[in-house]
Amino acid sequence: MNRILSGIQPTHKMHLGNYLGAVRNWVALQDSFQTLYCVVDLHALTQPQEPEALRAQTRELAAVLLASGIDPARSIVFVQSQVTAHSELAWLFACMTPLGWLNRMTQFKDKAGKNRDKAGLGLYAYPVLMAADILIYRATHVPVGEDQKQHLELTREIAGSFNHRYGVEFFPLPEPQIMGTATRVMSLRDGTSKMSKSDSSDYSRINMTDDADAIALKFRKARTDPEPLPTETAGLAERPEANNLVNIYAALTHKTPQDVLGEFGGTPFSTFKGALTDVAVATLAPIAGEMNRLLGDPGYVDGVLRDGGEKARALAAETLAGVQDIVGLLKP
Ligand code: TRP
Repeated sequence: MNRILSGIQPTHKMHLGNYLGAVRNWVALQDSFQTLYCVVDLHALTQPQEPEALRAQTRELAAVLLASGIDPARSIVFVQSQVTAHSELAWLFACMTPLGWLNRMTQFKDKAGKNRDKAGLGLYAYPVLMAADILIYRATHVPVGEDQKQHLELTREIAGSFNHRYGVEFFPLPEPQIMGTATRVMSLRDGTSKMSKSDSSDYSRINMTDDADAIALKFRKARTDPEPLPTETAGLAERPEANNLVNIYAALTHKTPQDVLGEFGGTPFSTFKGALTDVAVATLAPIAGEMNRLLGDPGYVDGVLRDGGEKARALAAETLAGVQDIVGLLKP
C-alpha cells in the first residue's frame, strides 16, 4: 500500500492557513494511504526555542491534529525525537550529500539571511533530516506546500543517489502531493503575504483556538477595498484581500470561488464577512472544543504519541538496519 509521511513543526500556534493548507488534507488522505504524521521537534530546534514552550507546543500541535480528525486508529501520529532512527539516517545521508546540493536551497538562504556565518549547521542540514524523516519509512507520497517542494526534490536526489551508489533499489523516490493553491491562505491585513504565526498582528490570522467572537471580530476588521464583490473571478485579479476572503470561504465550504461569487457577487463586504464568520465558526468551533478537551487531558495525548512512537520505531528500525547493512556497518 502506498505510504504517506508528512511533518509539521511545533513552532507555532496553528492557524486557519495551516489547517486549510495542510491538516485538513492529511485527514482526507487517511482514507486511501497508510499515513504517518510527525511533529518535527528536531526541525524546530534549528531556531532557538524555550524548552518548556517547545514541550508544550509539541503536545498542543498533536492535540490540534487529533481534534482535526487525524485518527490514531488509522494513522501513526508521533514525535520526531521519539524515533531516534531519523537522526541516525540523517547522518548517513549527510555523508553522501554534496554541499552543492544544499547551497541551492532557497529556504536556507532566506532563513540564514545576510549573516551566514552565524547560521547553525542544523539549519543548513535541515533538508537532510527532512529526507531522513521521509525515507526512514520508505514513504511513497509526501503532502507538502509549495515552499517545501525543493526539499522534496532533494529527498528524491538523495534516495536516487543512495540506490545508485550501492546498486540497490532500496528507497522509493517519493512523489510530492502539492496542495492546491486555492488553499493558500493569506494574511487578513495584507492579501499579498501568507497568513503566518510570526506576523506581529494577531488580527492577521485566525487561530485554531479563537472563539466565535474573536473570529467575527477578525473578519470584521479584515482589510478590504470599497467595491462590492465582483460577479466573476476575473474581477478579483487586482484585489488580493477580496480574493483571499473569497478563497477562504470557498475552501471552508468546498465550493469553487466562482460558485461563491455566484452567491455573493454584488453584495457589500459587510454581508459577506458575516457569512464568512458563520462558516468559519461552524468548522473551527468543534475543533477548538475538542482541542480544549484534549489539552485538559495531556496524559491521553502523550499516550497517543507514545503508541505512535512505538509503531514508528518498529518501521524505522527495519529501514535503518537495512541501510546499515548496505553501507557496511558492523552488526552488533
Ligand atoms: N520542512 C517542513 C515544513 O516546514 C516540515 C517537515 C519536516 C516535513 N520533515 C518533513 C514535511 C517530512 C514533510 C515531510 O513545512
